[in-house]
Amino acid sequence: MTATQPPNLVLVPGTPAARLADGRSTIVHVVGARPNFVKMAPVIAALERRMAFRQVVVHTGQHYDSRMSDDVLADLDFPDVDVFLGVGSGTHGVQTAKVLSEFEKVLLEHRPDLVVVAGDVNSTLACALAASKLGIAIAHVEAGLRSFDWSMPEEVNRVLTDRLADLLFTHSPEATDNLEAEGIGGGRIYYVGNTMIDSLRRCEKRARALEAWTTVGMRARDYVLVTLHRPANVDDPARLAGIVQGLEGLAAHTPVVFPIHPRTRARLAEDGGLDRLETAGVACIEPVAYLEFLSLQAGAGAIVTDSGGVQEEASALGVSCFTFRPNTERPVTLTHGTNVLLGEDPTEIAEVRPATHPPTPCAIPLWDGHAGERVADALVANYAMVTGAAEAHA
Ligand code: UD1
Repeated sequence: MTATQPPNLVLVPGTPAARLADGRSTIVHVVGARPNFVKMAPVIAALERRMAFRQVVVHTGQHYDSRMSDDVLADLDFPDVDVFLGVGSGTHGVQTAKVLSEFEKVLLEHRPDLVVVAGDVNSTLACALAASKLGIAIAHVEAGLRSFDWSMPEEVNRVLTDRLADLLFTHSPEATDNLEAEGIGGGRIYYVGNTMIDSLRRCEKRARALEAWTTVGMRARDYVLVTLHRPANVDDPARLAGIVQGLEGLAAHTPVVFPIHPRTRARLAEDGGLDRLETAGVACIEPVAYLEFLSLQAGAGAIVTDSGGVQEEASALGVSCFTFRPNTERPVTLTHGTNVLLGEDPTEIAEVRPATHPPTPCAIPLWDGHAGERVADALVANYAMVTGAAEAHA
């Protein structure tokens, strides 16, 4: 025990050297884009209860619109952000580079023992890289997902982040298998379950009570909810035109609600696709906050999406999900959830029908609302400088 430590605190062997006056290690948490907020809120809350670390929350500003960021954070009761980098949009290279250089300054100022990143967005990789170059340990929440599709920017972000990470938290056995197949092992992988589903379970009751579908003139189980934002789907005008045609076909027989991501809205506006969808009766709305979106998912008869998180949330809610992609990095949603791969033919979109039967319960192991607690336990076991507060929690 060192002279600077409070007497009731016990050293954990093997922890890093730089310390705060109160003896606690510092963790920097990174969030940048919408899905990060949902995945990290339960982890930060679980660590706060353990009081074993000083926590610093950094928001890179990759998502900055109030509907993509502030409103989502508010719904999640996300803690105050300590540092906002404000990097905004740009090409992938520019955005990644800006986060890298701005985040390095934060690390030099706060000198954390550990950086926690989540998911697969550009901010995830950029911050992991900055930490790695300063020799700071990295934990990756939602590690090991693989689409095996290198044309996806997220696949590059996932693989490289996992390569840099010291602790890897997986949400499914397949993710653990992927990491082991890449030679990552040696006790660094923790199969903890899905922290995104922690947020969902916490908010589900309020979301259902909201009945957000009524505000867009829909009846429960009667409509199809659509989200599309992947570059592969929306950045190619010919492909996007095919999707618009598929959605027109869908809207011809079923009410459709489409909260449109800014990337998608910009592309649709360029070639008249937005007008076509509105003429076809598609409810084209702005992106909605977290609770409202959960509510729209819970009330839907089916969902058409290219999002990763929506495949998981639909599975947890028991709502049929049709993923408009040729692959998924989340195969557990196909085998144990409600997800089906629709492929790449947009005419398939018109064939989707709402399912009127009641939702089936989620059967995915460890998607139980307690994954954040398991992440926190592993972080305390590996990186807490002191055990006093952590033991008090246990
Ligand atoms: C990013 C992630 C993607 C994730 C998605 C969730 C990467 C490579 N992609 O995609 O994995 O599924 O977030 O939404 O990190 N824009 C705004 N306001 C905002 C944010 C973005 O108008 O608050 C517009 C900008 O025109 C921007 C475009 O949307 O150029 C795309 O944003 P960006 O952060 O580059 O990627 P996403 O498509 O949101």
